Amino acid sequence: ERFLMTKLTVNGQSHTLALDPRTTLLDALRDHLDLTGTKKGCDHGQCGACTVLVNGTRVNSCLCLAAMHDEDEITTIEGLGSPDSLNALQAAFVEKDGYQCGYCTPGQIMSATALFDELKAGHPSYVSPDLDHAEMTDAEIAERMSGNLCRCSAYPLIREAIAMAAE
Ligand code: FES
Repeated sequence: ERFLMTKLTVNGQSHTLALDPRTTLLDALRDHLDLTGTKKGCDHGQCGACTVLVNGTRVNSCLCLAAMHDEDEITTIEGLGSPDSLNALQAAFVEKDGYQCGYCTPGQIMSATALFDELKAGHPSYVSPDLDHAEMTDAEIAERMSGNLCRCSAYPLIREAIAMAAE
């Protein structure tokens, strides 16, 4: 087996790992850096459980090769807050019960984090460029969060949590 020395900067910390070049960013985070907050649902880019930020943009880490991100800043759920000090979005998910089993929650929160940054930057929606950016309606939140599935179908509470944090 051949290994590639791979540099990854995650939550502000640099790591150098000897990885099989085929290792996904998701597996590098979970299996090599023990950052297990990022979840593996489908491993095929369909569920969003593995969402992390790459230079502030949300990506499905199961679809990325770790070796392609040595120049990038990766942010995972562990980089947002800690159990003792939740950030506003995390606190809103707790307050609104924005989950049932909780498996999709880190991905939902990472995706919503990127969504807030996109709104601040005036980023057009990927789906409907004519959506009103000033205030997100429930339907807009649903559309902008459509890449993150919840098998328990806690969607209304997830949207309430995001709306609360957006205020
Ligand atoms: Fe990556 Fe489902 S685990 S999208």
